[in-house]
Amino acid sequence: MVSKTSLWIGTAALVAVPALLLDAQQAAGVKIPLGLTTIIWPKDNAYSAAKADLGRLLYYDKRISGDGTLSCATCHDPKKGFTDQAPVSTGIRGQKGPISAPTVINRAYGLLQFWDGRAATLEAQAVGPMANPIEMGNTHANVVKTLRGIAGYRSKFKAVFGTEEFTLDHIAKAIATFERTVLSGDAPYDRYKAGNKAAMTTAQVRGMDVYFNKAKCDKCHEGPNFTLNAFHNLGIGQDKATPEEGRFAVTKDPSHFGQFKTPTLREIEHTFPYMHDGSLKTLEEVVEFYDKGGIKNKNLDEEMKPLKLTPPQKADLVAFMKALSGRGWQHLTEPKEFPQ
Ligand code: HEC
Ligand code: HEC
Repeated sequence: MVSKTSLWIGTAALVAVPALLLDAQQAAGVKIPLGLTTIIWPKDNAYSAAKADLGRLLYYDKRISGDGTLSCATCHDPKKGFTDQAPVSTGIRGQKGPISAPTVINRAYGLLQFWDGRAATLEAQAVGPMANPIEMGNTHANVVKTLRGIAGYRSKFKAVFGTEEFTLDHIAKAIATFERTVLSGDAPYDRYKAGNKAAMTTAQVRGMDVYFNKAKCDKCHEGPNFTLNAFHNLGIGQDKATPEEGRFAVTKDPSHFGQFKTPTLREIEHTFPYMHDGSLKTLEEVVEFYDKGGIKNKNLDEEMKPLKLTPPQKADLVAFMKALSGRGWQHLTEPKEFPQ
């Protein structure tokens, strides 16, 4: 096992499941795009179309925030690859947060949430921003009170959960269900892999070779969602006066200081700027960063070494990453009307 990796839960969670289950899921209306594996729905939060749609309304509803100005979509905007395309997010009353907003795409395949993995499930994650004073700046009690005060929501919660006296737990379950339907697959890479040799450009095909065989990016960004969901220290931000703690904040193990969760590379073209601090503006800068072997610090991952790529190899690698923009989320649009 790699000594400096605090968590190594590989593709175990992405194993193929029986065709029967897959059929049931597709019958339920969640189409799994080419290249992705089926979603394992939590036992205590099964999928239903009505629940996912309720979650979509909540995801876009600004009334959840303390002053009615922010929704989840403010910082995780579908038009921006489900991010805000900013180095750090801007929350309630213009307050800047410490860290970059990750994409909500393919979180169904994530094993832990947040850059440091401090939330175990999407349900647990979803309630965090509401009561975070620099994000949505509300209280949980007030979120529940506000939503219960809206007749249109009372009837929808009743239809989905069987009660108008819904709680924060129900709100979290609906939002998490919606999030599990935010998928991206069926990219040029997936179609190429499935046998359509015209799906990728020649530069992208060369870049795929650099990715898997020369630079070995798949040591960390592997599998259908291009991540093994593990934590690594690349040295990002670790040369600053007060660096982000990363995984250390959760485990308190000093060797985990500066480790962050490996993000997906799906839709990577649209989720700039890059890294937990948004310090790299372009994919070209990302490739230069890896080519130099990361930023030295006492916990630098042992996989981080200068790559010695040639300029054409660097350009091809960037081209390949652009072959990971796909389909599966475009139909999830902003609601035209909200419950009243
Ligand atoms: C003010 C901007 C902002 C708002 C509003 C916001 N988020 Fe986030 N979100 C972030 C930031 C920043 C992070 C990263 C925080 C961290 O890792 O410490 C994050 C992390 C996440 C993650 C974890 C992704 C991952 O890869 O681990 C999910 C899922 C998520 N948010 C969903 C939501 C939902 C659902 C809502 C609405 C209830 C919401 N966010 C509201 C900025 C925001
Ligand atoms: C040792 C594991 C590891 C290897 C090898 C690796 N990555 Fe990463 N990658 C990560 C981690 C961890 C992050 C987040 C780091 C941070 O923000 O501190 C990341 C971030 C990224 C990002 C930014 C994602 C975002 O949403 O901000 C891109 C793009 C990327 N890697 C591409 C690559 C490419 C291309 C290669 C091969 C040259 C590669 N990675 C090799 C672990 C790795």
